Amino acid sequence: MWETLEIRYILYMKGKYNVPFHIDYRPAKLNEFIGNGEIIRDLQAKFPHWPQTILISAPSGCGKTTLARIISHELKCAPMYMKEIDAAQDRGIDAIRTIIKESYSRPLMGAVKVIIFDECHMLTPEAMNALLKISEEPPPKTYFIFCSTAPEKILPTLRNRCFKIKLSNLSDREISLIIKNVADKEVIEFTEPLKQICRFILSEAKGVPREALLLFESLKDCTNLEEAQTKIHGFTDNDPKI
Ligand SMILES: Nc1ncnc2c1ncn2[C@@H]1O[C@H](COP(=O)(O)OP(=O)(O)OP(=O)(O)O)[C@@H](O)[C@H]1O
Ligand SMILES: [Mg+2]
Repeated sequence: MWETLEIRYILYMKGKYNVPFHIDYRPAKLNEFIGNGEIIRDLQAKFPHWPQTILISAPSGCGKTTLARIISHELKCAPMYMKEIDAAQDRGIDAIRTIIKESYSRPLMGAVKVIIFDECHMLTPEAMNALLKISEEPPPKTYFIFCSTAPEKILPTLRNRCFKIKLSNLSDREISLIIKNVADKEVIEFTEPLKQICRFILSEAKGVPREALLLFESLKDCTNLEEAQTKIHGFTDNDPKI
């Protein structure tokens, strides 16, 4: 039922607003997640016996939130039991105490609960300390997923309680595959100029999928490479150097 509601909501949003490619085509299942193959295979092999406290670290735009939501989806966590906390906003002890208290309340019929702490290194030291006990012994069927671009800023006592997943930037081949998947769904043809533009996108995106999709969306209608380069940098590689 929740999935149907979610799909209806996405279709409604799609019709109402122009959803950007990187949001619209965010992978929803483990087998759609491109790159970091060894980590993904390891997760697939261990399914459904996943640790209840996980730390996902990666550079910005490299798939932390995406993977956290996939884990939640694969665990069949209903949207009403999935909570995403922006630790840059709700970073203090009071907000975290409320979340901890809620985590101990039992969901209906033993459903799975997933709590995602985005940018968790922004939590105050008191808030991190408050999370030590529950992250060491989470309530049954309750999962904590900490996401961070700076895991070294997390208190070692909290960090050490987590199963660590460190995502890396993707290779150019993997980024190309992500762009191709989106192009196929949008029925965009790879003309010779667009292929050249995509090579430019690869050099600009440096293995960051979100960056690649933002660039692809903004440059896909350019008629040649020079136009694309000018749009991004204000000049082309062929312009005379001073
Ligand atoms: N492995 C992947 N396969 C396919 N697409 C991906 C992958 N990882 C990320 N993306 C795309 O990149 C976008 C950004 O990823 P995501 O939001 O997960 O990054 P993040 O690491 O959480 O970034 P931030 O640090 O800014 O929160 C996603 O919406 C998705 O479209
Ligand atoms: Mg994120």
